[in-house]
Amino acid sequence: MKPRILSGIQPTGSLHIGNYLGALSNWVKLQYESEPIFCIVDLHAITLYQEPAELREKIRQTAAVFLAAGIDPAHSSVVVQSTVKEHAELCWLLTCVTPLGWLERMTQFKDKAAKQESIGDGLLQYPVLMAADILLYQANLVPVGEDQTQHLELTRDLAQRFNAIYGETFTMPETRLPAVGARIMGLDDPTKKMSKSTEGSGHAVAILDPPAVIRKKIMRATTDSLPHVDFENMGPGVQNLLTIHQAFTGWSGDQIRRHFQGMRYGDLKKTVADAVVAGLEPVQKKYAEITAEPGYLDRVLAESAARVRPLAAQTVRLVKERMGVYTA
Ligand code: TYM
Repeated sequence: MKPRILSGIQPTGSLHIGNYLGALSNWVKLQYESEPIFCIVDLHAITLYQEPAELREKIRQTAAVFLAAGIDPAHSSVVVQSTVKEHAELCWLLTCVTPLGWLERMTQFKDKAAKQESIGDGLLQYPVLMAADILLYQANLVPVGEDQTQHLELTRDLAQRFNAIYGETFTMPETRLPAVGARIMGLDDPTKKMSKSTEGSGHAVAILDPPAVIRKKIMRATTDSLPHVDFENMGPGVQNLLTIHQAFTGWSGDQIRRHFQGMRYGDLKKTVADAVVAGLEPVQKKYAEITAEPGYLDRVLAESAARVRPLAAQTVRLVKERMGVYTA
């Protein structure tokens, strides 16, 4: 049996090269090993306020970026989370077996809560909804970036807890990180993870940024006070640029070392910018094609949702049976 793959991205802000290298490009590589489901997790997005018209637009843009990156809709399902009601339904059922302490310990919750004046309950429940996304389809494999590993641990703990209380119900999912690019750092501050929500034009390279913008952002990336690349004494900014280059080109560690040792930072940045522009060019071209074809995206989303609904309904029915509530 091939493993079932599930993953998701929030349709907030513009998808960036961290999302691309940490998640999307890995999904593309893995997709033919299974029948994957890739979600645009709009119910997660609204755990923090989103302007409704903008959110609707971002959902479509995110779905189109999935396809542009190489997700093959004939094989993989591209699902808007809110169109399959069982995500929310399973979330409630799981909420009832989730100890509050597990949620209060989540670092992403603590980080996000610290930035808000008042927080909605949804923000606390965020990881339960994520567990529901995964367990709903009995996924075996969840390809994500490194920042999601704590959420994945909670998902496994929750599955284990449910199975222990109500009997074997859920498949235990494994986390799959990419070999290179699991944690891309901000260009302006290489001690912080590249993030959709961080302000500032020099922070992230968006997947849809025009080549001139990509070059400008990378040329301005923060490095350190040394003049050139030294593998024996390398700061996080240079390390991050080399990781980005390696992830886009697929070069080995040895190749990277031979090519870049001693290179001046200006040349390093130019080389990295070339690799990023070249890597994103086919994605951007395909994005333009997809968005120019009327009705195509809606068709893909409707077909995908129809394809996965029976599986989602089957799991929710089983969980309800196990818990003793009505299934009709
Ligand atoms: P999100 O939308 O923050 O990020 C989507 C994916 O991109 C990865 N990622 C990164 N990888 C490398 N470097 C970075 N700087 C970087 N930033 C983001 C993330 O690890 C993720 O794989 N909670 C999830 C969405 C979600 C989900 C799920 C994921 C909801 N349900 C079920 C997997 C399975 C999130 O906020 O991702």
